[in-house]
Amino acid sequence: MRLGVNIDHVATVRNARGGALPDPVRAAQLAIAAGADGITAHLREDRRHIRDADVERLATELTKPLNFEMATTAEMIALAERLKPHAACLVPEKREERTTEGGLDVVRQEAQLAPRIAQLKAAGCRVSLFIEPDEAPIAMSAKLGAPVVELHTGSWCHAVVDGDTTKAEAEFRRLANGAAYGASLGLEVHAGHGLDYDTARTLAAVPAFVEFNIGHFLIGEAIFIGLEAAIRRMRQAMDEGRGAGH
Ligand code: PXP
Repeated sequence: MRLGVNIDHVATVRNARGGALPDPVRAAQLAIAAGADGITAHLREDRRHIRDADVERLATELTKPLNFEMATTAEMIALAERLKPHAACLVPEKREERTTEGGLDVVRQEAQLAPRIAQLKAAGCRVSLFIEPDEAPIAMSAKLGAPVVELHTGSWCHAVVDGDTTKAEAEFRRLANGAAYGASLGLEVHAGHGLDYDTARTLAAVPAFVEFNIGHFLIGEAIFIGLEAAIRRMRQAMDEGRGAGH
């Protein structure tokens, strides 16, 4: 089971003051030294956290795979074709949102997505689609030829944090069923959004998940215990959960 560390919010802190510190690339290198299997970064249209120069450095300086999170725009596709990150994760993007709220509507956007996915695959990127954990988008992702889906864990994580156990149970079943369905179609299944130690431990018990991408919680934890310790604890939580699932 792989842990991808999203370092966007190191850049958020940097940008709060302008200047170069803290450096998200240094955070990525430290995350790798602490056991991260890959690094995720999202270059948003408004450049609110990660900037173009960060992506250039991440794509060339890292010793582990870069998962480039991107909106399906001509600008981002051109950048991915030039930098050829290991993975390209297509996400919906709205200017006014605080974070990526909800999955990509792959069913409605089939016609627009098909040529973009083909372009990214031709550039050698492993394409993943960030979608809601439901049958229709999962089946469409397989039809579109994406090898990977990342299931949005936000609704479940919010329900857990809010203490809404009925909703949390339903959302967990939705994720577990979605992961199993994706795997049955031959897709590699990832998970991300809002995960913390407890939710990562719980979700790791679902064997179809092979990668978690986690950012905000880890960067927040790093304030208190350091990034390295936070990543080691997250790894341990995932390993505990995976052990419990077998
Ligand atoms: N995966 C995807 C596709 C995302 O958009 C995000 C949020 O940027 C994450 C994972 C990480 O979510 P979080 O920062 O809440 O851990």
